[in-house]
Parts: sequence; structure tokens; C-alpha cells
Amino acid sequence: MEELERLKAELKKINAEAGKIREIPVEERAEFGRKLNKQKQEILARIVEEEKKALDVDVSAIDVTAFSGVNEPMPELYSTLMGSEHPLMSEIDRVAEIYRLMGFEVLESKQLDDEYHMFDSLNFPKEHPARDGYDTFRTEEGFIPPAHTSTMQNRALKRYKNNLDEGKAIAVVIPGRVYRNEDVDATHEHTFYQCEGVYVSEDCTLGNMLGILREFFEKYYEQKLNIRTQPGYFPFTEPSLEFMIEKPKALGGKKGDFLEMLGCGMIHPNVLKMAGIDPERYHGFAWGGGIDRLVMLKYGLKDVRFFESGNLNFLREF
Ligand code: DAH
Repeated sequence: MEELERLKAELKKINAEAGKIREIPVEERAEFGRKLNKQKQEILARIVEEEKKALDVDVSAIDVTAFSGVNEPMPELYSTLMGSEHPLMSEIDRVAEIYRLMGFEVLESKQLDDEYHMFDSLNFPKEHPARDGYDTFRTEEGFIPPAHTSTMQNRALKRYKNNLDEGKAIAVVIPGRVYRNEDVDATHEHTFYQCEGVYVSEDCTLGNMLGILREFFEKYYEQKLNIRTQPGYFPFTEPSLEFMIEKPKALGGKKGDFLEMLGCGMIHPNVLKMAGIDPERYHGFAWGGGIDRLVMLKYGLKDVRFFESGNLNFLREF
């Protein structure tokens, strides 16, 4: 703390010095100003360091409702210490808002799940190689930090099953945090966000799904988009598709530059059955894709690792 006081005194001196600029011959002012400014920047940087250190000390003594320390004057650089909403959180709000306007309910996913919701309820055959890509981490008790938000499908179906009896559709989206055993690089993170969608009614079709997805992406990117699908494989959908959008010109895309945005398909009859829904009578479609990727394209971000980095320079850009 003494160092901090000393630095602040020094800053005051520099500020006072700067006030004297009028007394200096005009031709020397630029140089004078440059020198003082450089000193000032150095001191400010050190003040930030010191203030951070001060915050590190004794957590139990920190009143989280107070501006800085308890009964201490506000720091010189209060704005640099003040937090702000993480860009992923505000984008998740935007994603949820678009789906809400289309009539979807929004649920939250679990960050610790179990074998049943991760695999069995999603029609993963026992010992099947399709499990490998999703078999990530486990706690000693056998809980699973989920590798995708599809773990929520069974819960969403059960929770809104009554809608069907009332002649209404089930329409739910579920944003959530997921975990994978990835080699991390600019486009792969071990921790990221996905958004799952589930829709069930008596008469829905794959065409309805493509309409909903197109609508979502066009709202999110605020422009018309070209879309494309190609066959995929997921145990919980049949048929399964990969959904792509053409990278918009305004976002640096060239014609034919298609980006895979999510996996989707018609919900497998076994998945409906396991949630107590009669697959002879009802049909559904589901989709799930990364939110980080969505946001990266929107803002032209090149490295997914920024999101989890806690890098303040990155966060302050939003
Ligand atoms: N859960 C899949 C993944 O993360 C994506 C996915 C594919 C979700 C098809 C779905 C779906 O709901 O129907 O790789």
C-alpha cells in the first residue's frame, strides 16, 4: 500500500507539472508534453498493478459491495477495475431472445450430468464408437461434465410433454456450457457454449426445421443468407444433417464459402419413446451448435481461446 501511495503522489506531481505547460516556450511544449505523458502512462500502469495486488490480499476483508477496499477512497483508475458483461453472455441473451420471439421456451442446461442423459436417453448404443467423441471427463462419483447440450433433450421433452396433450407443440431451446477433451487451438476449445433446440408436434417436417434455422441465422446476422445441408450422423436423429450457412460477404466471406454451424435432424423414435412420447403419433426435430463460433463470425474474431482467457484487453472491446 505504501508503494501505491507513493505512486499516487508521483502522479499528482506529474499532473501539477503538466499544469505549468503554459509557462514554457511554445516550441518546447510538444517535447515537454510527450515526456510528461510517457511518465504518466508508466505510473498509471504501475498503479494498476499495485491496485490489483491490493485486491489480491485478504479476501475475507473485502466488502464486495464497496467500490474498492472497505472505507478507502475510490481508485484513480476505477474504470479499469470495473467489470462488464462477458460478450458470450450478452450474445446468449440475444440468441434466446430471437428464439423466444419465435415462440420457444428457454431452459438452462446442467454443467454436471449423468450417464443416462449423456448417452442412454440419446440412443447411443452401448460400446458404440459414436460414444468416443463425446466421452470426455468424469468426476470420481461418475458425474459427467457434458460434451453437448443434447443431454437436455430428454428433460425438455418430459417437461413439456403435456403441451402435446393440449394440442400444442413442444418448442424449447437450451443454451449451455459444454466440455470436450480437445487439443486446444484457435478454433477448438475444451470449454465452450452450445445451444440446443427441440421441437415436437403431430405434423412437423424437416422443411419446418430448415425454415426455423434459416429464420434464426438471418435474424442473428441481420441479413439474408444462403443455407445448405449435408448428410451427417448422430445416434439421436434419423436422418441426421449438418447445417451450413454461406459466410456473408459483409463478414469477409467469398461465394461458396460455406461454414458448418450445427448438427440437426429428425428426432430418433427411440429418443421420443424414452421420454414417454409415442413416436407413431408425434414427430420432432432437434439441433445443436456452438455459440462461440456464432459469435466469432459476427465479430470477426480469429481465436476462440479469447473467450475463456480472462484477457481484459479482449473483454474491454465489447
Ligand atoms: N449434440 C451434437 C454435437 O454436439 C449436435 C447435434 C446434432 C444436436 C444433432 C442435435 C441434433 O440436437 O439433433 O455434436
